[in-house]
Amino acid sequence: MTSPDALRDERLGALLDAVLGQVQGEDPRFGELISALVRHLHAFVRETRPTPEEWLAGLDFLVRTGHSCTEQRNEFILLSDMLGLTSAVDDVNVVGDSNATPSSVEGPFHAPAPARANGEWVSHGPERDRAEVMVVRGRVTDPDGKPVAGAIVDIWQADDAGHYDSQDPQQELGNLRGLFSTDDDGAYWFRSVVPASYPVPTDGPGGELLRAMGRHPMRPAHIHYRVEAEGFRPVTTHVFVAGDPYLDSDAAFAVKEELVVDPVRDEDPRHAAAFGVEAPFADFVFDVVLARREDAQ
Ligand code: BEZ
Ligand code: FE
Repeated sequence: MTSPDALRDERLGALLDAVLGQVQGEDPRFGELISALVRHLHAFVRETRPTPEEWLAGLDFLVRTGHSCTEQRNEFILLSDMLGLTSAVDDVNVVGDSNATPSSVEGPFHAPAPARANGEWVSHGPERDRAEVMVVRGRVTDPDGKPVAGAIVDIWQADDAGHYDSQDPQQELGNLRGLFSTDDDGAYWFRSVVPASYPVPTDGPGGELLRAMGRHPMRPAHIHYRVEAEGFRPVTTHVFVAGDPYLDSDAAFAVKEELVVDPVRDEDPRHAAAFGVEAPFADFVFDVVLARREDAQ
C-alpha cells in the first residue's frame, strides 16, 4: 500500500507538472522565468509546509508592501535590497573579465544633480560648519589605465547626520549632489564633508521584516557614483568609508572589497591650501575604471 507521504509527494509532483504544463506564452524568456519561479515557490512550500494562516500572512505582507508604495517610495525595491536580491541580480549581470569598477545597488535617493565645475563644494547646508571636511578626487580610465576625458561623474551622498537633501528640511535640494566632467587627464574632484552611516527606511513593511528577522537597518557611510562616457558601459556604484562599523553587516548587502576607500587624514596646511580647505581634512581618492562597450556581450 502506498504511504500517505508518498501519495502526498505524488500529488504535489503532479500539481507542479500541471502548473508548468500551462506555461505556453509566446515569449520563451518569460516562460523560462515564470517556470523557474513556480518551481522554486513550490519547492518552498514543500520544504516549509506553511499553514494556510502563515501563507495568508505572507500574502497580506505583500499587499501591505504594495499599499505603502508611492511615487517617491518603492518598498518592493527596499525589500529586494534588504534580502540581497538587488545585489544578486547585479552579480549575475557582471560581464567580461575586465578590471572595471564593480557596480552596486543604486538605492532610492538618486535625483537630478546640479552640474558643477571640478573643485566645487557640493556641501552648502549646515553640515559644512560642523562636519569633517573631505576632498574627493580620482581619475576615470579605461581598462588599460588611459584617461577618459569628458566622463560624467554623478555623485550623491548623505551628510554627517546620515540625511540626504530630500529627507532634511535644512538642506536645499541639490545639496551633497553634483555632476562633474572629467578633465583631459580623466580627473574629477570636489569638496564635501565626510558622510555618516544611516538607517534604511524602517517605518513600513521593510522595517517590519528587518525587526522580525532581528536585523539592524544600518548602511555603512558611502558616496554614490554613476559614471558614464561615450563608448563605455555606464556604472552605478557606491564607495564606502573604511573603518565604518557597519561594513560587515550592510542592510543592503552592497559592500564589495574594491569599493572601500580609506580616506587619509591630512594635517598639512600646504596640502589643505592647495585644495582650498583648512587642515585637517580627509583625502578620499577613488579611481573609476570603465569597461569598453565592446567588452559587453
Ligand atoms: C542607499 O544607499 O541610498 C540605499 C540603498 C538601499 C536601500 C536603502 C538605501
Ligand atoms: Fe545611500
